[in-house]
Amino acid sequence: MCGIIGYTGPRACKGLLLDGLERLEYRGYDSTGIVLLEEDGLVRDRTTGKVAELRALVGANHSSARLGMGHTRWATHGGVEDRNAHPFLSNDGRLAVLMNGIFENYVDLRAEVAAAGHELSSETDTEALVHLLSEVYDGDLVEAVRRVYPRLEGHFAFLVMAADEPERIVAARHAWPPLVVGRGDGETFIASFLPAFLEQTRQVQYVVEDEVVDVSPSGARFWPMAGGPAIEREIEEADASIEVAEKGGYETFMLKEIYEQPTAIADTIGERYRNGALHLDGIGLSDSELASVNRVLIVGCGTALHAGLVGRYLIEEWAGIATEADVASEWRYRNPVFDPSTLVLAISQSGETADTLAAMQLARERGAKVVVITNVMGSAATRAADGVLYTRAGLEIGVASTKCFTAQVTLLTLLALRLAQLRWRLSPEQVSAIGSELARLPELAQRVLDDPALEAKVDMIARRFAHDRFFLFLGRHIGFPICLEGALKLKEISYIPTDAYPGGEMKHGPIALLSDDTPVVAVATDSHVFEKMISNIQEVRARKAHVIAIATEGNDAIAIHADHVLYVPRTIEELQPVLAVIPLQLIAYRIARTLGLDVDRPRNLAKTVTVE
Ligand code: F6R
Repeated sequence: MCGIIGYTGPRACKGLLLDGLERLEYRGYDSTGIVLLEEDGLVRDRTTGKVAELRALVGANHSSARLGMGHTRWATHGGVEDRNAHPFLSNDGRLAVLMNGIFENYVDLRAEVAAAGHELSSETDTEALVHLLSEVYDGDLVEAVRRVYPRLEGHFAFLVMAADEPERIVAARHAWPPLVVGRGDGETFIASFLPAFLEQTRQVQYVVEDEVVDVSPSGARFWPMAGGPAIEREIEEADASIEVAEKGGYETFMLKEIYEQPTAIADTIGERYRNGALHLDGIGLSDSELASVNRVLIVGCGTALHAGLVGRYLIEEWAGIATEADVASEWRYRNPVFDPSTLVLAISQSGETADTLAAMQLARERGAKVVVITNVMGSAATRAADGVLYTRAGLEIGVASTKCFTAQVTLLTLLALRLAQLRWRLSPEQVSAIGSELARLPELAQRVLDDPALEAKVDMIARRFAHDRFFLFLGRHIGFPICLEGALKLKEISYIPTDAYPGGEMKHGPIALLSDDTPVVAVATDSHVFEKMISNIQEVRARKAHVIAIATEGNDAIAIHADHVLYVPRTIEELQPVLAVIPLQLIAYRIARTLGLDVDRPRNLAKTVTVE
């Protein structure tokens, strides 16, 4: 999704802004632009290419500009064309604006500024803002923003600068798109996301909704948009470090993050489990409130939802609480039925996903307690929840989520155990036995990643099947969400169509897709549905399709049922998903690389989906 960076200070800022945009590239974008205040006024460059192309476009010429803003755009309103790339300038070239989000009333706003005589040069919603501002601007950007702001509907974060105010950027945000200020020594940054300036400063201040922020070299001042005294805002030390945004010797961020999973799982468990005792600090509900939860509703999107589907099995199995997991964007537009004894559990790696945030808001409005599982401290979801459980996976840069998925499942495992413990559904001995197995997961995940036989097979499978036209993923019970996740990973980075079905459902339709050139990935680890899964595999083989099975180490019998077997270490059935998903991530990764694709920046996708 769109990325924003702005700078004001004593340094020539062209390079700083371009570097910042590069740091935001992983979020996904299709065009990029920059505006600098040079001696003779605002100078803008834009391109539908990558930041490297923008860098080439602006050239190596010396720029003395000490005020500037940059943007990466992920198209919503208006196609991927240079003229739709941000920043936008007023017709007199004195004001510049860039924005992340959407103005929902943009049709009216565009019509209004066109009727007032402004020439619109793009198809975007954002351009309307610069013209509205130029209508009211008389030398004070803060005042102009205040006057125009009530006219804006939607969810957005924007920056504005003016040729006549050489040290100032004014910013505001509404709803979920984030903004964060970086305080340097006599210089100030403002960005949509920390990595944009983390190399320069770690002293940060978060921008809150509906305030006007006046950014100058000496810092940032915050006021309520509607008027009133200035707001004191604490300066915090950012906990992320720029090193995490480096590939650390791996060829891609995605591969690095796949290999970081043992650490992500270990850190997520951390001190939360010790010798039979579970501590879920931050959950925001007392033990008695947790014990009296009679229904759990899990909401999320994409990979986060798949983790939630695993969580559903665990919570029902161990805690005996009716649990559902649903797509946030669907759930919020149904008329979902729940009462205050329902726990709504939102899962969002970024904590900024628009649909998940809207579902959380709906749940709270209707009186339910909302707990969020997220990986990003201070994200919008943390402010919209009664309680927060952090995965500790570290910054995830690859657009295709990997380590956050396994960390989310790990956290859901801890939560399910805690609910079971509080409701006396598992004995202390059972909790200890599961806890000990959980503590072994990082080591077991490491074994999967270090297994040369598995690596060789994944390579062979990638070469053998990369050019096939379709992949089917089959699994049962807790293995089914893993198939959904494997199928999503493969389709999003290799662009090969995939589908995932519960094994028992195959004969009700998808079996028609099978022929001798269909690879079928079957999650068939040891479980109470293993024999059922074998029957499904037989049905696949009878149609001459190729079976790639994920199985439990020591289960040699499966070799006669499958063309290729990838073994993962044995653990208890409920923890198997965390191990079984790793070969699926690796298969997706290797196939996409075999096809020569950019796995960190798959086409059309964004890391953080801040629009509905
Ligand atoms: C897929 C992927 C997405 C995200 C989804 C939700 O690899 O990463 O499906 O899981 O966009 O994002 P978060 O978890 O940030 O709410």
